[in-house]
Amino acid sequence: MDEASADFITLDMLREARKTVRNSPLGVINTPMIPWSQTTLPLSVSCNIQIKLENLQRTGSFKIRGVANQFARRPKGGHFVTLSAGNYGKSFAYASKHFGSKGKVVMPETAPESRSILIQSFGVEVERVPTSCLINVVNRCVQDDNMTLLHSYDDLDLIAGHASLGMEVLEVVPEPDVVVVCCGGGGLLAGVAAAIKLSGCDKTRIYGVEPEGACTMYKSFTEKKPVRMDTKSIASGLAPPSAGRLPYELCQRYVAGIILVSDEEIKAAVSTLYRAGLVVEPSGSAAFAAIVNDKIPDMEGKNVVCILSGGNIGKDELAHFPD
Ligand SMILES: Cc1ncc(COP(=O)(O)O)c(C=O)c1O
Repeated sequence: MDEASADFITLDMLREARKTVRNSPLGVINTPMIPWSQTTLPLSVSCNIQIKLENLQRTGSFKIRGVANQFARRPKGGHFVTLSAGNYGKSFAYASKHFGSKGKVVMPETAPESRSILIQSFGVEVERVPTSCLINVVNRCVQDDNMTLLHSYDDLDLIAGHASLGMEVLEVVPEPDVVVVCCGGGGLLAGVAAAIKLSGCDKTRIYGVEPEGACTMYKSFTEKKPVRMDTKSIASGLAPPSAGRLPYELCQRYVAGIILVSDEEIKAAVSTLYRAGLVVEPSGSAAFAAIVNDKIPDMEGKNVVCILSGGNIGKDELAHFPD
């Protein structure tokens, strides 16, 4: 098969993926959207913001959407391998157990031990290796052990599954002016943006938000090709070493711009959300951080959607954030 390109993603394909995600035996939730005005969250700009609570999604993040579509479109009984220290690994393990497939997660040895234990509890093998060896170990699993790689952000079926989130947004706000999405490798941003634009919302501006220390998509936009960099951020899910090739292509086509936030702004956002009763992890809070720090252009009087993409954070980690 040809390497997937942005042209492969059509509205019909996304509608099909949405059906798959909605009917998935993994129990993916149509997560609530709540008006910002009905929360105790502070806001200096006067606009109408809706917050999509993907932190309440099954497995605690949006990743299960893409995983549901990936597994549905791969042969049953396969032996899959992936590379993830975080939310993708958790959704992958959950799906592997559910579908009875063999799975392995290759993880940086810097990842919390608790994450390996959780993934192993789903019957999935974990190999912890130095960050510099991650790719080599995955390649070995594919070449020598005949495993199939499931990519955590650069995969057509995954992106099409994530697009279901964009479609749900349009059911509540049919033509948003602005949609703000956290961006790591870019799979979520690409899926949401494609869903919204291909549904005919030509005027909607979709922004991705990245940490300053992990601005791979931002740099890719500047250099006009997907780039790699050494990344560092409190939001580890937003800090893969490269922007995905297919996500980059789709974001170029459908995204208005990439906004950067600092780790301090992300930490403050986690605390603000927590005080308002919303448990959101750093990687899930970047879009919110960009809004409260007034970094999104031309929001006054507009209909804005902010996606809180994940809530996997424990109370020990929360204790390190400002009051
Ligand atoms: C909570 C959360 N939000 C956003 C992202 C970014 O997703 P993507 O890599 O598809 O850009 C991640 C990635 O792990 C995540 O865990």
